[in-house]
Amino acid sequence: MSNSGLNWLEWISAIFHIASEALFQRFFARHLPKRMVLPQLAGLTCIVTGATSGIGLETAKQLAEAGAHVVLACRNTAAAEALVEEWHENIDASLKVEVMQLNLLSLSSVRSFCTAWESRNAPLHVLINNAGICSLLAPQKFSEDGYEEHMQVNYLAPALLTLLLLPSLLRCASRIVNVNSDAECFGAVDPDDLNLTSTSSGYSSLIAYAGSKLAQIYFTSILNSHLQYRSGVHAMCVNPGIVTTNVTRTLPKLVQTSHRHSTLFFFNPLEGARSVLFCATAQQALEHANKLRSEGWPLCPLFSSDCKPRIKHIQDQELSKASKVWDRTLELVGLSNDVIEKLLNP
Ligand SMILES: NC(=O)c1ccc[n+]([C@@H]2O[C@H](COP(=O)([O-])OP(=O)(O)OC[C@H]3O[C@@H](n4cnc5c(N)ncnc54)[C@H](OP(=O)(O)O)[C@@H]3O)[C@@H](O)[C@H]2O)c1
Repeated sequence: MSNSGLNWLEWISAIFHIASEALFQRFFARHLPKRMVLPQLAGLTCIVTGATSGIGLETAKQLAEAGAHVVLACRNTAAAEALVEEWHENIDASLKVEVMQLNLLSLSSVRSFCTAWESRNAPLHVLINNAGICSLLAPQKFSEDGYEEHMQVNYLAPALLTLLLLPSLLRCASRIVNVNSDAECFGAVDPDDLNLTSTSSGYSSLIAYAGSKLAQIYFTSILNSHLQYRSGVHAMCVNPGIVTTNVTRTLPKLVQTSHRHSTLFFFNPLEGARSVLFCATAQQALEHANKLRSEGWPLCPLFSSDCKPRIKHIQDQELSKASKVWDRTLELVGLSNDVIEKLLNP
């Protein structure tokens, strides 16, 4: 076993999986248009986190262009306001876009965002948990709440955001789209060490990133099982593919991918946003989610960067781990175990 908790066979399989994604994602997604064709979305409200850059920016822009009311939930509100101005000037002055402050490195910022949002008593049709960090090669860092930064930004804060926005999501048929990553196959989550403080053989940013994405799959699966049959809320996870964005900003300049163009193998943000937009808007995504629900499939719907469902096999002990991760997560974000029950039966 390594510090990731994977055995050598699982490591080889994870490396093979990521290498084949890097080499063949374009081939697998060859049936998709360069830019997703969206239905008319007038009347829908969508919140997109991390919409100032990369996949989130493209996702938010296209949702707005299709007529949705889009909330850019960003920590850098000046950058987001500048984007809105640019879109109003260059695309259409009538786009319904607004900016709200959200810093996922602070759970109190998440709570303030949700209080402000919930005070509107409005329905929320789509929540896209896109914002994320992947601080490869960086040393371990902790948030003001005392949590490892990958875990907090990629997992704990979006989990809290999702739960606090559930009242709005329950007001209508809605979707929660979590932008995940196939890097989750390198992940292993220890519910007793979600904060990654006791890894015996040292900290690895890749393992922290992968663990945060795997924890999100566990959490989303348990969330769906709580909501099943009693609500029109569907939660899913999607891998956008390997995309040239600012996500590699902590790597040496030579290997950074912060260009807006596509490369021979990697997607550009326009292409990376396709699977996210598919989950947020396509009827087929809901049909797949409903099929899994009716079959009692224990995991949440997972989609690949080619917009096709991905089946991840899970063993019984992993399912019980997922439940423990759910319980521990509620504890870490300061919510009670019956939070969903209370919302469903107020
Ligand atoms: N690019 C890939 O190859 C790839 C592959 C698989 C999965 N993903 C996932 O895709 C998602 C989007 O990443 P990206 O590639 O588009 O990266 P990106 O260009 O770096 O965009 C990340 C966004 O998240 C925001 N963000 C970071 N920390 C935040 C915080 N504390 N509070 C609020 N917002 C914060 C960033 O805001 P600032 O501009 O203020 O930093 C930015 O808007 C992430 O969840 C990532 O894990 C990406």
